[in-house]
Amino acid sequence: MGATPGSVRSFRAMRRMRKIILVLSLVLSSRLAAGSPPLGDGPPSWAYPVNSPGLTEPADDGRPLQVPDSAARFTLTQIRDLNFCPDWHPGDHPAMPEIVARGRKPAVLACGSCHRADGSGGPENARLAGLPAAYIVQQLADFKSGARKTSVPGRNPDWMVAIANAITSEEIEAAAAYFSSLKPRSAVRVVEAVNAPKVRVVDWHLAVASTPGTEPLGGRIIEVPENLEQFERRDGRSRLIAYVPSGSIQRGRELAASGGNRTVTCSICHGPDLKGLGPIPGIAGRSPSYVIRQLYDFRAGARAGAWSALMKPAVEKLSMDDMISLAAYVASLSS
Ligand code: HEC
Ligand code: HEC
Repeated sequence: MGATPGSVRSFRAMRRMRKIILVLSLVLSSRLAAGSPPLGDGPPSWAYPVNSPGLTEPADDGRPLQVPDSAARFTLTQIRDLNFCPDWHPGDHPAMPEIVARGRKPAVLACGSCHRADGSGGPENARLAGLPAAYIVQQLADFKSGARKTSVPGRNPDWMVAIANAITSEEIEAAAAYFSSLKPRSAVRVVEAVNAPKVRVVDWHLAVASTPGTEPLGGRIIEVPENLEQFERRDGRSRLIAYVPSGSIQRGRELAASGGNRTVTCSICHGPDLKGLGPIPGIAGRSPSYVIRQLYDFRAGARAGAWSALMKPAVEKLSMDDMISLAAYVASLSS
C-alpha cells in the first residue's frame, strides 16, 4: 500500500475512465455493421432463473453440517443467515473484514454470505475475487444510483441495491480491498453438448431436476453445481458444470478475437488474456450464466452504469447465439 488512500486512488481511476469511455465508444461503434438483430423473446429464463413462489426450504434439525476437506461445522440456520459467512476453509483466503464476514445489521448483509468467503461467488450472483477495487466501488455506486439494474425485476440483484443504499464508503473500501486482493479461481467446467440434464430452480440458480433425465440443450447454457449439497452450504471450493451448444466455444473465440463485424475485440479493454486491465474487470473463467446476464443487461439498457457505455459497441449488434458463444468461450478460459 502506498501513501495514497484507496478512496483517492479509486476516485482518480474513475475520472480517467469517464474520459476514455466517450472517445472509445464512438470510435468503436463507427466500425460496426448497421442494424441490431432482435434479441428473441426477452431475457432467457435459463440465465435469469426465478424461484417459484411455492419453494419451501427444509427445517433445520440442528445437526452440524460439513463439506469435503474441512474440519468446520455449521448448522443450516447459520448457513442460511445472511449476516453470517460460513468459513469452511480459512486457509484459502486472508482474514475477512467484518463487513464481509457479518455485514452490519439491519440493512447491510454480509458480502461473504452470498459471494462466499473466498469471493468465488456462484451463477446466482457474481465472482468478486480479483476484481479491481475501483471497479467494485463503481458497481456499488451504480447499484445505489439505480443505473445498474437487472432485466428481470424482482430477482436477487435487488439485494445489492438495498445493500448499496445502506453501506458506508469506509465499508465499501474495506470490502473492495479484500475481494480485489483474492486470487480468482476457475470453478466451471464447460462442456459442449447436444443434450443437458433436466433442471429445476433452487435459490436463484439451476440445479439438476429431482427426477433425473436429459433433454435437448438447443440454444441455451445450462449451468449446475456438480455437488448441490456442497454448493448450497456455500463452500467456495464448489464446482459447476456448464453445458453449452456444440461449436460455441470456437465461435466465441473467433468473435472475441475479430469482432466478426458485429462486436469489438474484447482484449482491447479486458486485457490480452481477458483477465482484466487497470480498472476493467476480468471475464476469463467467469460463470457463463452471469456473463450472459451482463451482456443482455448492457444490451437491454438495464445495466447503464457510469462505465457501461464502453460495453455498448461490444453488445449492440449481438444475437442471443453470439452472447451464448462469447459466454461459453470466456467461461472456458482459465482465470
Ligand atoms: C443477498 C446476496 C448478496 C449479498 C449479501 C451481497 N451481494 Fe453483491 N451481488 C449479489 C447479486 C445477486 C449480484 C448481481 C448478479 C447479477 O447481476 O446477476 C451481486 C453483484 C455484486 C457486484 C457486481 C460484480 C461484478 O462483477 O460486476 C459487486 C461488486 C458486489 N455484488 C459486491 C458486494 C459487496 C461488497 C457486498 C457486501 C457489502 C455484497 N455484494 C453483498 C448478491 C449479494
Ligand atoms: C471499449 C472497452 C471494452 C471492450 C472492447 C469490451 N469491454 Fe466488456 N467491459 C468494459 C467495461 C468498462 C466494463 C464495466 C462496465 C460497467 O462498469 O458498467 C465491462 C464489463 C463487461 C462484462 C461484465 C463484467 C462484470 O464483472 O460484471 C462482461 C461480461 C464483458 N464486459 C464482456 C465483454 C466481451 C465479451 C467483450 C468482447 C466481445 C467486451 N466485453 C469488450 C469495457 C469493454
